[in-house]
Amino acid sequence: MITRFEYVSELLRERRSIFPASYTGEKVEEQRIMQILENANWAPTHKHTEPWRFVVFCNDGLLSLGEFLANYYMEHTPVESFSEEKYKRTLGKALKSSHVIAICMQRDPKESVPEWEELAAVACAVQNMYLSCSSLGLGCYWSSPKAIVDAGPFLQLREGEKCLGFFYIGVPEKGTKTNAQRKPVMEKVRWRRG
Ligand SMILES: Cc1cc2nc3c(=O)[nH]c(=O)nc-3n(C[C@H](O)[C@H](O)[C@H](O)COP(=O)(O)O)c2cc1C
Repeated sequence: MITRFEYVSELLRERRSIFPASYTGEKVEEQRIMQILENANWAPTHKHTEPWRFVVFCNDGLLSLGEFLANYYMEHTPVESFSEEKYKRTLGKALKSSHVIAICMQRDPKESVPEWEELAAVACAVQNMYLSCSSLGLGCYWSSPKAIVDAGPFLQLREGEKCLGFFYIGVPEKGTKTNAQRKPVMEKVRWRRG
């Protein structure tokens, strides 16, 4: 019998970013998406500000999102470096996904914690979604395109909300290969024993 630690270690290490190019286009049940969001909601949060906010795109919403991102690319790229292929790819990413979740942070109006703590809490919520998708065999990844700085009106963000990226979710094609590499943890750790 595997221990909970072994199970969690395996889940953490096998979690991977899987990109829309590898999605089949198949749709994930909304109930599943709700469960993934429910898990996100259990992230750690200092002073219980629970700063994560999500905008879920599905059905025709995916087309609106794809058009927003592709048009943003077009409008912010000099004509001489504009690539029709990249425009189409940007549009297609949302359309190949089952759902795309805008990852947002709501700044605590009382500023009871520094902003970085709110950003960190949202990142923890995203990790919960990553691990949830991974355990379900779903593909997902966190995308942070330049467009997020100007996405407020499109996402109808509220006062104090900020977009930190988009979380793409889709059903991966069978045999999708991922490439995971990490430098040894010992290169990133210093011990103090006295
Ligand atoms: C805050 C954040 C932003 C990211 N933004 C992008 C992005 O804009 N484009 C992209 O291809 N991957 C993005 N990624 C995903 C990384 O590419 C991915 O995590 C990395 O390649 C490691 O792969 P793994 O997630 O499979 O371990 C982002 C990840 C994080 C944590």
